Amino acid sequence: MSKFNILLQLTGSISCYKACYLASKLIKANCDVQFVASDAALKFIGKATLEGLTHRPVITGMFEDSKMLAHIDLAKWADVILLYPATANTINGLAAGLAGELIGGIFLANNFKVPYWIAPAMNTNMYEHPITQASIKKLEDMGAFIFPTENGILACGDTGPGRLADPSLVYDKLVREYNVTPAYEAIS
Ligand SMILES: Cc1cc2nc3c(=O)[nH]c(=O)nc-3n(C[C@H](O)[C@H](O)[C@H](O)COP(=O)(O)O)c2cc1C
Repeated sequence: MSKFNILLQLTGSISCYKACYLASKLIKANCDVQFVASDAALKFIGKATLEGLTHRPVITGMFEDSKMLAHIDLAKWADVILLYPATANTINGLAAGLAGELIGGIFLANNFKVPYWIAPAMNTNMYEHPITQASIKKLEDMGAFIFPTENGILACGDTGPGRLADPSLVYDKLVREYNVTPAYEAIS
């Protein structure tokens, strides 16, 4: 039986470590997980951790040797595409249709053929900024699923909305909506 393919895209937030926890859970549930990381994401989490979890090289750029068509191929490979965590920069870029970076290219190449889920993570003012709010609404209206942010203490010390949705919410939605069968309960 073929595995469920999850494209897990990370952008530059301090909450990138939560994507590792999510990937670990999904791999134990017998999913294939491919990480795509923006350059900024790799300032927060190392390739060794990402590749070590998935046994797959992390893909970062549009022009990587022998992966020149990654933006097309990955969009076709995936059964679901996650943007977790999603920065203000990438959310606003996607809403504007910018495809200068790999994540923007994948977004356009997918054109909602497979579900596209976005979990914003940012400082409260960045999240509540009218540009970010308009982009989130635009992406939702186009067909993306947006996870609500959590309200709480943020890494910057502020308290309010903007905290990344807990990885268990994403995992539970995948289990609920797809044939993702939890293999183990425990996670390391
Ligand atoms: C310590 C630190 C934490 C950051 N956390 C976030 C964040 O949670 N959300 C966000 O939108 N930007 C955050 N940024 C800013 C982004 O990393 C920056 O806008 C970057 O250009 C985003 O690029 P990307 O969208 O291509 O990943 C943070 C920057 C630093 C230095």
